[in-house]
Amino acid sequence: MKHILKQLDERRAEARRGGGEQRIEAQHNRGKLTARERIELLLDHGSFEEFDMFVQHRATDFGMDKQHAPGDGVVTGWGTVNGRTVFVYAKDFTVFGGSLSETHAGKITKVQDMALRNRAPIIGLFDSGGARIQEGVAALGGYGEVFQRNVLSSGVIPQISVIMGPCAGGDVYSPAMTDFIFMVRNTSYMFVTGPDVVKTVTNETVSAEELGGASIHTVKSAIADRAYDNDVEALLQMRRLIDFLPSSNTDDVPEWPSFDDSERIDASLDTLAPENPNKPYDIKELIAKTVDEGDFFEIQEAFARNIVTGFGRMDGRTVGFVANQPLVLAGVLDSDASRKGARFVRFCDCFNIPIVSFVDVPGFLPGVAQEYGGLIKHGAKLLFAYAEATVPKVTVITRKAYGGAYDVMASKHLRGDINFAWPTAQIAVMGAKGAVEIIFRQDMDDPEKIAARTREYETRFLSPFVAAERGYIDEIIMPHSTRKRIVRALSMLRHKELANPWKKHDNIPL
Ligand code: HXC
Repeated sequence: MKHILKQLDERRAEARRGGGEQRIEAQHNRGKLTARERIELLLDHGSFEEFDMFVQHRATDFGMDKQHAPGDGVVTGWGTVNGRTVFVYAKDFTVFGGSLSETHAGKITKVQDMALRNRAPIIGLFDSGGARIQEGVAALGGYGEVFQRNVLSSGVIPQISVIMGPCAGGDVYSPAMTDFIFMVRNTSYMFVTGPDVVKTVTNETVSAEELGGASIHTVKSAIADRAYDNDVEALLQMRRLIDFLPSSNTDDVPEWPSFDDSERIDASLDTLAPENPNKPYDIKELIAKTVDEGDFFEIQEAFARNIVTGFGRMDGRTVGFVANQPLVLAGVLDSDASRKGARFVRFCDCFNIPIVSFVDVPGFLPGVAQEYGGLIKHGAKLLFAYAEATVPKVTVITRKAYGGAYDVMASKHLRGDINFAWPTAQIAVMGAKGAVEIIFRQDMDDPEKIAARTREYETRFLSPFVAAERGYIDEIIMPHSTRKRIVRALSMLRHKELANPWKKHDNIPL
């Protein structure tokens, strides 16, 4: 018996060595952790249960019959994050460059199936050279199997991808279909075709970092939701994110003990929105002062900064925040901001996460570039997402809610459940200056008349009272009591029931 146990120990040790000491050292020298070290950091200590440690590829071409490594370049299994089950797979770059073979794909699809069947989130850690070149179509088939499962799991369980090394070719499309992509600065990059192919096809000279590094994907392409400085930080932040998310679309949001006072008043909010409507202020200050313990997990913080999206908790329960940011482009809605907001709203709606919207928006961004870029369809994405969402929706208009953007930002007309406004709110078709210039064009050479008309427009429309008179605003609230009012609203809405008519799926403008 002793001998048999020893043999198991030895075989396990061999599998854990992956591609061997030298390759592990090379991995460390690049500032990267190994697949198993990453899993250790991601999961609760000692909770990892590994599957398929002894799986080997079955390829024979190009000398592969002589090259074997137990595990076949990916470490898979499940464990817990603060006690809650998650499934995980981590590409092992030390084994065939983490490349995907038929058997490697089989290991991933096994945990994908288990995650879906057991309704728990799945996290993929990517560090790979793409399709196993020696395998050809068997590898392509493997990718297809992974992709299909990504799609079937979408909206049922949270799927998270963390890019921690190369992620190229076939490897990019699985992350692209998951809910969130995170990257590690300077050690990770993502592209469909690398710099060499780009040079051949388009004659552009570009480095891997310039083509698909974290700075590109978090700022320009919006492929990635956030970037972190190193593996350790990225993995610890993933633990934080998991704490915000429900395990599946049939689960409620997790509830953690809150050490914050649900009735907390914040007097500084009474002066947050400057009297001068052209003066900016930081909407993140309002978010920080509203959520439990100021704890806010921002999504896509570096992209379309004119809208802020992210998770916080109110009285211990997760809430998704969407907020126009007056500090950037006056908080205007452009194509990028609309896409960013829409995707976030849809994630929240999939996973029963109530949405709180803070509104200070001067409208949609005018301009040739925006119109040519498809602003109509992109803007419609956000409108569509808010309108179809059935989760509790609480809206607070802090200042401007102009034009179509008023409608879009979780207004009463899009089934907003509770619509608050601060006394500083201005709800109108457009700002007073623009309005007067159009409707009193004939008086334009008479500054006194124009000033009088502007004042008249401001008093009539630039206050929350006209909307409140119609019931479009449920209540005008004191800014200092924002947190308390939202907590109460969400508590009232906790058992909200609302269903859209049956359909196979909707046809959101893409
Ligand atoms: C087999 C691979 C591999 C691959 C890397 N390796 N990529 N083995 N298939 N795709 C092996 C290398 O042979 C090497 O083995 C080890 O992994 C480490 O690779 P290096 O090249 O030494 O590492 P590095 O210099 O860091 O470069 C990393 C890399 C490069 C940029 C990822 O390896 C690379 O360009 N790989 C090929 C990328 C690629 O073209 N993949 C196919 C994409 S097509 P040893 O034994 O020396 O350690 C694709 C289509 C699928 O994916 C589409 C589905 C929809």
